[in-house]
Amino acid sequence: MKTLRNDRFLRALRREPVDRTPVWMMRQAGRYLPEYRASRAKAGDFMSLCRNPELCCEVTLQPLDRYPLDTAILFSDILTIPDAMGLGLRFVEGEGPLFDRPIRTLDAIRRLAAPDPEGELRYVMDAVRTIRGALGDRMPLIGFAGSPWTLATYMVEGRGGHDFAVIKKMMFDEAEAFDGLLSTLVESVSTYLAAQHAAGADALMIFDTWGGVLTPESYQRFSLNPMKRIVERLAKTAPGVPVILFTKNGGQHLEKMADTGCAALGVDWTTSLADARRRVGGRVALQGNLDPITLFAKPERIREETARVLADYGHGPGHIFNLGHGILPQTSPDHAGAMIEALHQLSPAYHQR
Ligand code: CP3
Repeated sequence: MKTLRNDRFLRALRREPVDRTPVWMMRQAGRYLPEYRASRAKAGDFMSLCRNPELCCEVTLQPLDRYPLDTAILFSDILTIPDAMGLGLRFVEGEGPLFDRPIRTLDAIRRLAAPDPEGELRYVMDAVRTIRGALGDRMPLIGFAGSPWTLATYMVEGRGGHDFAVIKKMMFDEAEAFDGLLSTLVESVSTYLAAQHAAGADALMIFDTWGGVLTPESYQRFSLNPMKRIVERLAKTAPGVPVILFTKNGGQHLEKMADTGCAALGVDWTTSLADARRRVGGRVALQGNLDPITLFAKPERIREETARVLADYGHGPGHIFNLGHGILPQTSPDHAGAMIEALHQLSPAYHQR
């Protein structure tokens, strides 16, 4: 196994001692950075940026050159899989993602096939290989995918969801067909993540952005169980690679999520890290959980809130500092810097023995 100069993030995932709390930000390469906006203008649109491994590498490294962060995350999107399935993905300014051919019938579900990671999705693997090469032994790289449930919401609704009426009706009226859709996505996400690991990703994260809109019973069947099957598959196809599960608004499900065999759980700001640690901290690492809107406040308040998140988790290993969800495009880069600086100053005290 290669040795990294900065392995704090991987050590924290294994709940091993570190000198200070590792930090990264969800969506750390993104529109809040002027250098990102310049790279994106070179590419044209967002998917052209994702399809260009050199530019993906450039934007992945931008936040690392600006801030003392502890891990890189692949620049890509969760919607690469449904795009590769032929659903016709477009990003419309101000509207977010749209699919020209959403999945609405049993027939359409039956026709779906898992994309080949080194075929239709080769551009993603090329981006992982390019970024891995550029990082060298500097720090780890996170690969990622959407959860089957979250991907299904976009594929069935055809767009970002509001009340999720279309997909929930399908879930109620055609539960078996719907299980078939999720199985195809389990297969797709498992092979996609294993291929990212083979291409050089050191850790893997599953974004379940919309698991929190389900009843507890539906969450278990349609969101958690497919993620568990992926973690189990990866234990065979990518043995030893740490997997982070993040269900937004999933605070009530942490115990069941920890039972999947994953290494860590992402926690949003609606759950306290102290509570999360009491419940599952003996079994998994925890990643989070500053409310991203905090970065709109004055730097003194950002520092206080960073201190509060650190104190909330408390002493000892197993914490990866992050926002509770993606950094917003309107965020001042200086305010993100203030959070990271505060973390660097305040967190060593939590790791003294
Ligand atoms: O964290 C990182 O820096 C890695 C990059 C990353 C992106 N998307 C880049 C991106 C990651 C991890 C994602 C995941 C993603 N994509 C999720 C789940 C994560 C979460 O926050 O819960 C979801 C739901 C998507 C789907 C998606 N892609 C949406 C809703 C949007 C925003 C559309 C809009 O117009 O606001 C995207 C586009 C996207 N993905 C951008 C970035 C930087 C913005 C694209 C741009 O306009 O330049």
